[in-house]
Amino acid sequence: MHPYLDPFYAAFPAFIANMAPVFVAKAGWLHALDVPLDFRKTIFGKRIFGDHKTIRGLIAGILMGGAMGIVQYALHTFGIVKYPYLLSDAEFILFGFFGGMGALIGDAVESFFKRQFNIASGRPFIPFDQTDYIVGFLLFTLPFVSWSFHEVIFLLCVGIICNPLSNILAYVLRIKDTYW
Ligand code: CTP
Ligand code: MG
Repeated sequence: MHPYLDPFYAAFPAFIANMAPVFVAKAGWLHALDVPLDFRKTIFGKRIFGDHKTIRGLIAGILMGGAMGIVQYALHTFGIVKYPYLLSDAEFILFGFFGGMGALIGDAVESFFKRQFNIASGRPFIPFDQTDYIVGFLLFTLPFVSWSFHEVIFLLCVGIICNPLSNILAYVLRIKDTYW
């Protein structure tokens, strides 16, 4: 057991899910699903989520998070990378899909608050932009792993630290137009 590597490895589906919407949009996949999640509806006079939260992004996050979970399951089953938490086969297969869904729902909930606070889509809301998907991931995977307090704090810090790194990576890979 490792106090930092274990939760970090288990959160891979969250990191992948969080990057999935930008990647899928850039690749031009699932074009028919490029529809706002809130269907442009408003609540309290503000858009529920705004134009940057799409059905395509949600589906991409669930599928890519799920795919990551299945890769980790295969690596564990074939004895290549031992998984740090005890899960049944069925739980293991569901873990990535739930985690990916939680990540994208956490992100959408954060966008809801940004809209209510009059923060335009795409404008920063630090540190919530960096941690929204981690919170969603942790909540949606609670049926599988009882996260400890220190694991929660550690992953929130990873979200804050990883954000600039993943932005720079996406910029270098030409997925994003800016490096922030
Ligand atoms: N995205 C998407 N669908 C989602 C989530 C994200 O299409 N459900 C895409 C959008 O193109 C979005 C990008 O991923 O611009 C990055 O997501 P994020 O940084 O969370 O969104 P913001 O542009 O900051 O928008 P918001 O202000 O609503 O958080
Ligand atoms: Mg966000």
